[in-house]
Amino acid sequence: MNIHIDESRVVAELDRLATFSDGQPPGVTRIVFTPADLGARDYLKERFRDAGLDVREDPVGNTFARWNGAERDLPAIGTGSHTDAIPNSGRFDGTVGVLGGLEAIRALQSAGYRPRRSIELLLFTSEEPTRFGLGCLGSRLLAGVLASEEASSLRDFDGITLEEVRSAAGFRGNLADVRLPQGYYSAFVELHIEQGPSLEREGIALGVVTDIAAPASLRIVIEGEGGHAGAVLMPQRRDALAAAAELILGVEAAALSTGVIDTVATTGICHVFPGAVNSVPSRVKLEIDVRDIEGERRNVVLSLIEQTSQAIAKKRGVKVQSQLLNADSPARCARFIIDALVQSCAKEKYTHKEMISRAYHDSLFMARIAPVGMLFIPCRDGVSHRPDEYSAPESIGDGARVLAHALANLAA
Ligand code: GLV
Ligand code: MN
Ligand code: MN
Repeated sequence: MNIHIDESRVVAELDRLATFSDGQPPGVTRIVFTPADLGARDYLKERFRDAGLDVREDPVGNTFARWNGAERDLPAIGTGSHTDAIPNSGRFDGTVGVLGGLEAIRALQSAGYRPRRSIELLLFTSEEPTRFGLGCLGSRLLAGVLASEEASSLRDFDGITLEEVRSAAGFRGNLADVRLPQGYYSAFVELHIEQGPSLEREGIALGVVTDIAAPASLRIVIEGEGGHAGAVLMPQRRDALAAAAELILGVEAAALSTGVIDTVATTGICHVFPGAVNSVPSRVKLEIDVRDIEGERRNVVLSLIEQTSQAIAKKRGVKVQSQLLNADSPARCARFIIDALVQSCAKEKYTHKEMISRAYHDSLFMARIAPVGMLFIPCRDGVSHRPDEYSAPESIGDGARVLAHALANLAA
């Protein structure tokens, strides 16, 4: 089958999508259920309908665009990704999987292919943890990993619940109904940028993912004692930020202590109260992200961080409260999907390598209810979650082309 991918169309659509943003260009900021996110969704739903797909949304806003197959009752083939973007991010993370997936479907339609199984394109709600502190909200609910009551009561940075925010955005219905039954998809394949440097560095066109690393995150609140920066003498201080600084270095040391390159830990959020130059910080909130391809080794790091927190609390006379926000298992991709992707690379004479995904994706949770696979394209200098994130049009085209072949193979 001759697959024609219109690279310039996908790039134009990615560029247009990037205009739905709250940030300063070229950075993209698209937080779930803000007007920017809702505008992006409307733009995409129009594109899906233009391609003749049937569009439906579930109560949390996961959006499904279906190309009905000849045998509609068979489990479908899923593809897709997310379109929310962390603050000051790039325009390719997630979006390439949605618009590249759409382009793959359009290419199959133009090639005259008729699927036996339906092919469904998904736009997942809130893959990024920015607003509610928990990543992959939509796919966690689809997979039944997150209870609907727990999801409803998640609060955003302004203390507003997910329940309130989603209903203000127009998404109604019971969150328990988001869950998909096992067997809804016979395969789910996500196209994504690598978000790391190895494909580009090794000059390889495509990455076929075998495993997705296990993410965890912690929220730690440190309470010390505030006071006048001139008047409170050093021996009397219980400075919450000085304690946090020590803990942040402890987080780094905990990750390094495994001696394994696959362990990473990041303190990405540090809120200081009251945040005045002449006031001793009385309270600090940290959010820490810890990952490893091995869940158990990741858990050892989490307990090391906990021990370090307790030791600092004792030594500095501060109160440390920590809350584990999530600690998810790693996921393994299905061999038959890996094989389908590898064969599709061979069909188009692309070089490929099998690799691990160190970033998490909605596929981590889709793996609980369906066999999954992921296809990576190179991104410049391995940069992601930054405004200068970039993947070349040819790479996006390569990814969409191989995805199209794989979808055709899996849906046959
Ligand atoms: C997803 O954005 C991740 O943080 O891996
Ligand atoms: Mn991301
Ligand atoms: Mn992503």
